[in-house]
Amino acid sequence: MKALILVGGFGTRLRPLTLSVPKPLVDFANKPMILHQIEALKAIGVTEVVLAINYQPEVMLNFLKDFEAKLGIKITCSQETEPLGTAGPLALARDKLADGSGEPFFVLNSDVISEYPLKEMIEFHKSHGGEASIVVTKVDEPSKYGVVVLEESTGQVERFVEKPKLFVGNKINAGIYLLNPSVLDRIELRPTSIEKEVFPKIAAEKMLYAMVLPGFWMDIGQPRDYITGLRLYLDSLRKKDASKLASGTHIVGNVLVHESAKIGEGCLIGPDVAIGPGCVVEAGVRLSRCTVMRGVRIKKHACISSSIIGWHSSVGEWARVENMTILGEDVHVCDEIYSNGGVVLPHKEIKSSILKPEIVM
Ligand code: GDD
Ligand code: MG
Repeated sequence: MKALILVGGFGTRLRPLTLSVPKPLVDFANKPMILHQIEALKAIGVTEVVLAINYQPEVMLNFLKDFEAKLGIKITCSQETEPLGTAGPLALARDKLADGSGEPFFVLNSDVISEYPLKEMIEFHKSHGGEASIVVTKVDEPSKYGVVVLEESTGQVERFVEKPKLFVGNKINAGIYLLNPSVLDRIELRPTSIEKEVFPKIAAEKMLYAMVLPGFWMDIGQPRDYITGLRLYLDSLRKKDASKLASGTHIVGNVLVHESAKIGEGCLIGPDVAIGPGCVVEAGVRLSRCTVMRGVRIKKHACISSSIIGWHSSVGEWARVENMTILGEDVHVCDEIYSNGGVVLPHKEIKSSILKPEIVM
């Protein structure tokens, strides 16, 4: 089976992290977002993943080369010369996706994290005989997503409305699709939206079916949702494979610590924390609801909550970093500094406190 991951877009909502790498390579729970998806695809027998990409394909391919061999899966790029939206890239990759076998293929948004019910989707797709299957999930704030109205007993989609202004329903498109090759005949090679132009038509012909997602789901394409997503991911990891989580008297709730990270004496870590490879957390540090990426040093008695610390940054002694502070790559926060929601661009040194949420350039 084949799969296409929609990788394009500049990831502006996840700046400053996406100033260093394309969004799919931003680490989530100690590995690049896109690896969570590629591993899930591999696990159910996908043999080739096409990355639909419109900028920096070399960066992605260089990075993924290692994983191609390690995972035993073919990874290729389909590069747009202009952004083709969420449907155009399928037309562009047509020859790779429709290999004459007639087999359906997966399409994934690159910024969604869940338990990826791909096996269940294949069964569901076979059972209804429609042209396309999508996954839906319930959310409290549906207006920023594609809203799906379905016939509960069969899953047949009655309406698909992208980012509705008025309330339509609370089941939303989770960005995980299984499509018959015939869907490609509906898409022209031009910038076009699968949510606005393709799914509404398939739904009108009663050929679109939706399966309600078992388990958690989050679009982690913006900082607040990224941090919520980590909590949900770690909760799910606790249920599936608790041995992967850290334990000890200094750990509170769900915490993921890379084996190469060093944690000092008298720290209190958790809940909902990920500490990446090569990090050094010195004595007496307090961390909660945060991600500390590869190569970061947190100095003595610093306190970090609800924040993301980008690659190779450092946080000084007794510093307090909180309220959606996002440090880009290689940012250095001096001793005793306070950051309340600072969004700091890469390679900066922070010598005075950031008292209210603002971008530091
Ligand atoms: N190749 C390519 N080219 N990919 C693109 C382009 C493009 O021009 N534009 C967007 N993408 C990719 C993004 O990288 C992302 O993986 C996916 O398409 C969806 O784009 P987003 O920008 O993240 O859309 P969204 O989050 O506002 O809405 C989408 O996702 C929601 C679920 O998270 C829609 O699919 C909604 O219906 C859905 O509910
Ligand atoms: Mg998104």
